Formats: sequence, structure tokens, C-alpha cells
Amino acid sequence: NKDQFILGIETSCDETAVAIIKNGREIIANVVASQIESHKRFGGVVPEIASRHHVEQMTIVLEEAMEQAKLNFTDIDAIAVTEGPGLVGALLIGVNAAKAIAFAKNIPLIGVHHIAGHIYANRIITEMEFPLLALVVSGGHTELVYMKEHGHFEVIGETRDDAAGEAYDKVARVLNLPYPGGPHIDRLAQEGKPTIDLPRAWLEEGSYDFSFSGLKSAVINTVHNAEQRGEKIAPEELAASFQQSVIDVLVTKTIQATKEFDVKQVVLAGGVAANKGLRATLEEKFEQIEGVTLTIPPLYLCTDNAAMIAAAGSVLFEKGQRANLALNANPGLDL
Ligand code: KG4
Ligand code: ZN
Repeated sequence: NKDQFILGIETSCDETAVAIIKNGREIIANVVASQIESHKRFGGVVPEIASRHHVEQMTIVLEEAMEQAKLNFTDIDAIAVTEGPGLVGALLIGVNAAKAIAFAKNIPLIGVHHIAGHIYANRIITEMEFPLLALVVSGGHTELVYMKEHGHFEVIGETRDDAAGEAYDKVARVLNLPYPGGPHIDRLAQEGKPTIDLPRAWLEEGSYDFSFSGLKSAVINTVHNAEQRGEKIAPEELAASFQQSVIDVLVTKTIQATKEFDVKQVVLAGGVAANKGLRATLEEKFEQIEGVTLTIPPLYLCTDNAAMIAAAGSVLFEKGQRANLALNANPGLDL
């Protein structure tokens, strides 16, 4: 049997990434060019700048990945590319690069949903067992996804306003921390105690939806009220309190869904999956739940990368999914 090689391309936000995965699970090349330094001074991702960097980096990153893998394009079975959701101008660079190679080298093309990619980052470290529940927490998404089999995604809950990562980044801004704020809040939170009373949005009984805008506003108000009184809130206490509120809701709802849907495996996905507090709390809670495997990817597979896109692409390839050259970037693509 011949080995299967899938080339993945990811450009949905501020990372230009190309990776090659062997037989669905083994990384043989993984290159990520981050643009964080360029966006930092603006306090967030500037779409126009993101697109321009993707154009500049695309061929460089692609060549480096091919070199790492020591492969030719004739060895590649399919090209998997993030088609959405994300920034349209950023997505277009990856989609057009993928289409150009697919056309020029006559290689099958596969469109991948960015969130499917985040979830499939887990398959690089472990085989997946179904039914499976994924907690997807990133800068753009907060979702609980139920999977009864490979390639089948059912969103059972999602955020009604801000994504968890977005809330982290906004709270970080109020505390004058650099972008992206998540890692900084995480680090501060380890140094403080959650002494400040902040809200938790549980929403309706039985709902798996999330809401973080109320929490974000409460943090902002707490800081402003203190300023008006001429006081200063200890940033580590505020970070710890905010983080505790986010983790309480994420973990409680994940455990409820784990039980209701009787899943065999729970996987964590997305940039916020890098959060130390969230990882530790999930590990501690799931130790007490029998018959359920908890999988948490290593940090380099949590934030945006192309290995996860290639891993998802491999499963879709096996399922016979193919895109044609009409494939287009879709910033609002549904899972
Ligand atoms: O998945 P990702 O790389 O990009 C999107 O698809 O959005 O996620 C980026 C998000 C940012 O909001 C960043 O602040 C957050 O993940 N993040 C964290 C941590 N590391 C990254 N949030 C909390 N704690 C962290 N350690
Ligand atoms: Zn992402």
C-alpha cells in the first residue's frame, strides 16, 4: 500500500501556514509564518495587512514545507485548503494558491472548514473515538460540536456574542496588555486569586450556547469604576477572576453535554485551548468521569496551523470529498 500525503494550506487569519501529513496522522512538514508582530501595534488583526503578508509569505512557506518533507508535488495525493470561515481577503490567498497548484500539477483539491481543522488537530496525537464532543474555543469561535462519525459535525451550542478568545483579547486591552492578550491574561491569572465577583452567563436551562459580552463589560466596568474612585485593581486578581468565570462556564457546559450525549471522547480545540487554567481544570474534572477519554492537543496544534487542515483533509479525501476549481473563499462558511 502506498503512503498517503496531504498538503494543507491555512491563511484564514494572521498565520500563513503550509503542512504535509502522512497517512492522516503523521506530520512530515509544518511551517507557520506568524504576522503577530505586524498587527500588534494596531491592537488586533488588520485585514488588509493580513492579506498582503499572506501574498508575500505564501510561496516561501510552501517551498519550505516541501523541502522539510523532501517530497515532489507528484507525491502529493491531495491539497487541502481552508475555504472559510475567516477574513475573506486572507482566505483568498490560500484558496488561490491551492487552486493554482491543483491545476498546474493535476492534484485533487479539498476545501476544509477552519473549525473542522481545529478539531482534527486531535487526530494527529490520537485516534478519534465516536461519538465525540469537541469544545472549540478560538479568537473567532466558541462552540460545542457533536460528531457521530468522521466528517460529521453538529453544532449543539455556540456563542451568541463574543468568542472566548475575543473576550480574552478585549480584557487584555483594558489591562494594557499586548495583542493577542490570551496568553498574557493566562499568565497573570496564575499569579492571582479570583477574588472579584464577576458574572457567569449560563443562559436558559439546558442550553449549550455561550455569551461572554456581559462578562467582558463587567470587567471593563470594574476597571473604570476603580479608576474613578482613584483606586487601582490588581491586574492579576482581575485576570484570575475573569479566567475563572470563562472556565466555569466552558467546563460545566462541556461536562453536561458529555453526559447528555453519552460521548466516548472529548477533544479540546482552538487557540484558547492553549490556556493553562482551562487545560488543568478539564484534566482534573474528566479524571472523575469514567469511560470518557479527554484529549488536549499540544500548544503548537492549538493555535492556527496547516497540519490540522491537512489532517481534516485526509479524512475528507478518504470520504471521497473533492472540490473543483470553482472553489471560493467563504468567510461565513457553516460547519
Ligand atoms: O485559533 P486561533 O489561533 O485563531 C482563531 O481561529 O481565532 O485563536 C487565537 C485566540 C486569540 O484570541 C488568543 O488570545 C487566544 O486564542 N489564546 C489564548 C491563549 N493562547 C491563545 N487565550 C487564552 N489563554 C491562552 N493561553
Ligand atoms: Zn483558528
